[in-house]
Amino acid sequence: MKWPAGTALARANPLTGHGRASIQISSWSCSRRVHTIPQWRPSSALDEWVQREARPISLRRLTFFGRTLTESRLLDSANYCRLELPTRIAHRLRDIQTLPYVVVANPHLAHVYELYLRAFERFRRVPEIRSLEDNDQYCNVLEETLKEHATVIPRLAIGVLEVRGSMRPEETDRFMNTMLRSRISRRVIAEQHLSLTETFNSPWHFPNAQPVHDPNAEAVGEIFLKCNAKEIVEHCGKTTQELVKRAHGSHLHIPEIEIKGHLDAAFPYILSHLEYIVGELLRNSIQAVIEQRKFKDAKPPPIEVLICETAQHVIIRISDQGGGIPNEVLPHLWSFSKGPRREKRLQNLARVPKLLGTLQELQIPGDNPHEGHKKHGKKHKHGESSQQHGSLSTLTSRPPDLRLGIGLPMSRVYAEYWAGSLEIHSLEGFGVDAFLQISKLGNKNERLTTRATMDA
Ligand code: COI
Repeated sequence: MKWPAGTALARANPLTGHGRASIQISSWSCSRRVHTIPQWRPSSALDEWVQREARPISLRRLTFFGRTLTESRLLDSANYCRLELPTRIAHRLRDIQTLPYVVVANPHLAHVYELYLRAFERFRRVPEIRSLEDNDQYCNVLEETLKEHATVIPRLAIGVLEVRGSMRPEETDRFMNTMLRSRISRRVIAEQHLSLTETFNSPWHFPNAQPVHDPNAEAVGEIFLKCNAKEIVEHCGKTTQELVKRAHGSHLHIPEIEIKGHLDAAFPYILSHLEYIVGELLRNSIQAVIEQRKFKDAKPPPIEVLICETAQHVIIRISDQGGGIPNEVLPHLWSFSKGPRREKRLQNLARVPKLLGTLQELQIPGDNPHEGHKKHGKKHKHGESSQQHGSLSTLTSRPPDLRLGIGLPMSRVYAEYWAGSLEIHSLEGFGVDAFLQISKLGNKNERLTTRATMDA
């Protein structure tokens, strides 16, 4: 078959005019020999950036710039962000370009693409950051972009549900996993830098003093060095109980949360990520227990949380007696697009566009840049207990009855991102055991590869 010169391999993408992977074909026959596709040459800024590899981060490496914060380290951190963000966005733009036509034509997915393209163009043009003034300007760009991207997750969630049928569910899930991990990573990198800048500019920081390493520091930027598992479970538990009470009425018996095991277990982590996962698991458990009619008039059985610390990991097991997960739901538990609850999700999501204007209601960890990076107000001071700062915005800011339907798969994306895992075991007719495993040394690289890819 003859292709005209310059024809893209796949059908042109409506957003970009690019074809699949932007491989251009010269004017010769495709059918004759494999090498009819000429050597791939960068043809645009995007092509150039796509060729760069992401430089992976770990919690430990992220704390490096900030442990003894000097001007030169702050500028190193800024320049790391400056190169890393457009690289990571470029990879995702290319992913979107390779989706089938009907998928990228979906208005929500098209909107996400436009946001990413704008951010890419903005970020790639930032020149080397050489001074604190340059850094201040750069931080303004970061803050602005973080705000602009606040609706990305609900838009992706609605988009993939709307285009179901045009993509295989496994492909959709792989796409969502990759998009979400990458987004977490970019927001971690951006927010860590904003946080370090805020610390550097704070009245407690003396830029000209001899830099000292404070071994008792509670946090470096966004990373809390000693997240205490028990305190986080308690804190998330109280907030979730409150939310459920608000949704169902205070007359209702809410299950207690009993915590046992290694109550001193502590590890470095990003608090909002952990709060999201633990909050989601506890909410599922509490809701399952109270939805069981048999506990309506009696004291319901408690949610039992066991914390287990090993040399490398902290494992949090959350066990409820909420009747387990129905068999027809179980195979689709981790899917963003498939399963018997899909129609219900779509009905719920139909409300979302109206809410997209009121973003506070849909926040996911790290989605509220102003929470942590208000120019004139500090989110936390070093030396205060980390648990005092858990704003739990993610649990409290979403209307309790608005379920995007992605809480569990999203929690697993968060758990796996920092080299942990999340598993659910359902005991039919009895209850559920959720196992959250956290890598406790903070030395593991972020996981940008999706589970589907790893399994393949
Ligand atoms: C995102 O939220 O998707 C972003 O890419 C944010 C950006 C400031 C790094």
